[in-house]
Amino acid sequence: MTVCEYRPGLEGVPATQSSISYVDGQNGILEYRGIRIDKLAKHSTFLETSYLLIWGQLPTQDELDEFEHEIRYHRRLKYRIRDMMKCFPESGHPMDALQACAAALGLFYSRRALEDPAYIRAAVVRLLAKIPTMVAAFQLMRKGNDPVQPRDDLDYSANFLYMLNEREPDPLAAMIFDVCLNLHAEHTINASTFSAMVTASTLTDPYAVVASAVGTLAGPLHGGANEEVIMMLEEIGSVENVEPYLDKCLENKSKIMGFGHRVYKVKDPRATILQELAEKLFEKFGRDHYYDIAVELERLVEAKLGHKGIYPNVDFYSGLVYSKLGIPTDLFTPVFAIARVAGWLAHWKEQLEANRIFRPTQIYTGIHNAPYIPRGERQTAEGEPVVPELVASNP
Ligand code: CMC
Repeated sequence: MTVCEYRPGLEGVPATQSSISYVDGQNGILEYRGIRIDKLAKHSTFLETSYLLIWGQLPTQDELDEFEHEIRYHRRLKYRIRDMMKCFPESGHPMDALQACAAALGLFYSRRALEDPAYIRAAVVRLLAKIPTMVAAFQLMRKGNDPVQPRDDLDYSANFLYMLNEREPDPLAAMIFDVCLNLHAEHTINASTFSAMVTASTLTDPYAVVASAVGTLAGPLHGGANEEVIMMLEEIGSVENVEPYLDKCLENKSKIMGFGHRVYKVKDPRATILQELAEKLFEKFGRDHYYDIAVELERLVEAKLGHKGIYPNVDFYSGLVYSKLGIPTDLFTPVFAIARVAGWLAHWKEQLEANRIFRPTQIYTGIHNAPYIPRGERQTAEGEPVVPELVASNP
C-alpha cells in the first residue's frame, strides 16, 4: 500500500470513484452524469434531474410520470411526525428540526433491505417527497399555525412554495425555484456528501444517511454560508460601505461569505446562473438594493482577491433569489438540503453498489506508554491539584 502524506481537509485526496458528477474548477464546469449544469438548468425539472442523478440516465416520459406520481402520493407526513414537530422549540434552527425529522423517518419506516431495489426506490421517493413538507411544516408550526397540506395538482416546486407561503406561487417564481433546486442537487464529494457516504458505508438506513448529511450541511463553511451572505449584505447596508467593509475583512483576515471554493478557482457556474435568475426576478417583482451591494462586492473581491482564485460560489446569489421568493433567511440551508437530498441519495446508492466501510488511517501525534497517575495526585494543566470532590462527583 502507498503511504500518502497527510493533507488537512483531505484536499486533493481521492476518497472514492464516482460517475455521478464532475467539476472542472479551473474552467468553471459542472456536469451531472456528463450533462452540463447550464443545459439541465434550462431544460430539466428538478425531479427529472434527481432521477438522472440517482438512476444514471434521464427518465423517459413514462418513467418520469411514474416517479412524479409516486412522489406526489408520498408528500404527506404522518400525524405522529407532525405531533413530534409540535414539540420542537420555535426558537430552534430549522436545520436542527430537519435533521431530527429526517432521522425520525427511520423510526416510522424501519424495515431495512438494502439489497432490495423496491426498498431503495421507496426510500428515495419518501425522502424526496417528505423533506420539503417537513421544512414548510416547521416554518408554519413555529409561527403557531397548522401546517398546510400538500396539493396534488401542483408540481414539486410550486407545491413547496405553496405550503411555505400559504398561497399558490407565481409561475415564474415556481420555475426559478425549481432551477435553484437543480443547481444545488449535487456537487461531487463535498462535506455533506462525504458524510452521507461514510454513514452509508456502515450499511445503516437511508434516513440516518440523510440525517448525518443534513447535520454536516448546516455548518457556516458549507450550506450555512448562504444565510451568512444575507447577514453580511445587511451589515454592509449600502454600496458606499462595500469597500471599507471589504478592506476591514482583509485586514482582519476574515472570510467573505459566499466567496471562495476548494475546487473552483473561477466564478462558480451555478453563481452565474443564479445571478441571471435574480435579475429575472427583480425585473418582474422589483429590484432589491442588496443586489447592488452584492454586485459591487463581487467587483471589488475580484479586483483584490481574484489572483488567489477567490470568486463567488453558489451561496453568494442564492440568498438574494430565495429572499425574493419569500423564503425566510434561516430556511435557506434547509432549502439547500431539499435539493441536495437528490445528490446524497445518488451517492448512497452508488456506495451500496460497491461498498467497503470507510476506515481511513491517522497520524498519531500523542505520547506512548504514559504512566497512570492515581486520582488524588493528578494536577491540572496549570499545575493546580484537581479538586477531589469534583473528580468523585464526575466519575
Ligand atoms: N474570503 C477571503 N479570503 C478567502 C476566502 C474568502 N471567502 N476563501 C478563501 N480565502 C483565502 C484564504 O484566506 C486563504 O488565503 P491564504 O492562502 O493567503 O491564507 C486562501 O484563500 C485559501 O483558503 P482556504 O480557507 O484554505 O480554502 P479552503 O479550500 O480550505 O476553503 C471555503 C474553502 C469554501 C471553506 C472557503 O473559501 C470559505 O471559507 N469561504 C467562505 C464560506 C463560504 O462561502 N462557504 C460556501 C462554500 S461553497 C458551497 C458549499 O460548500 O456549501
